[in-house]
Amino acid sequence: MNPYSAIQAKLSLSQPLPHTPDWSAAPDFIELIVEHALQAKPEVIVECSSGLTTLVLAQCCQFNQKGCVISLENGEDYAEKTCQQLKEFGLEDYAQVIHAPLEKVALSDNEYDWYSLKTLPEVSIDMLVIDGPPGFIQKNSRYPALPLLLDRFSKQTKVFLDDAARDDEKELVAHWQDEFSGVEHEYLEFERGCSVLDIKKAS
Ligand SMILES: C[S@@+](CC[C@H](N)C(=O)[O-])C[C@H]1O[C@@H](n2cnc3c(N)ncnc32)[C@H](O)[C@@H]1O
Repeated sequence: MNPYSAIQAKLSLSQPLPHTPDWSAAPDFIELIVEHALQAKPEVIVECSSGLTTLVLAQCCQFNQKGCVISLENGEDYAEKTCQQLKEFGLEDYAQVIHAPLEKVALSDNEYDWYSLKTLPEVSIDMLVIDGPPGFIQKNSRYPALPLLLDRFSKQTKVFLDDAARDDEKELVAHWQDEFSGVEHEYLEFERGCSVLDIKKAS
């Protein structure tokens, strides 16, 4: 049985959701971000990595008749593939995939490869989904997301970090909590672990 069939039905999709075992976000994570997007109806959803997450979030925006997804994707071929899938689902008006090659960035005395933000539009982010870059490329691969995107957050931003059961993700969430104020964190015992952060900006 297709593990995403319940989500397909919930989103009234007529065709099966394309997914790649081990690389696509797991069904429990997808269900959580869909639930939030349908309830909170965010204007701007940014995600780090594209694929299945992009499709389901774009479908939520279509359902809501509100909002859009902006997806940062380092792999040019994956960016093209996701754009193609958005077209196949008729969702290209609800999501934009930006080919954002990884570039060196220095943060807190460490150097990381992280998405180029040169072509990210000036937006106010209501929801951030972090499912890349892949963990194997470097230590604490997803740490830069908060320090580099925080100044683009809206007054209250919900952040969903996938693969949060891994030691690196546990460590980087602890760094975020030490470094930034207004961060509420909840850990969910999902298939691969999920960290949900509620971030309120001081007004
Ligand atoms: C964990 S994947 C997540 C993709 C997306 N969020 C989803 O749920 O489908 C993170 C990144 O790995 C890369 N990737 C995707 N599929 C891959 C594969 N089969 N082999 C190697 N890299 C892959 C892409 O650059 C993607 O942005």
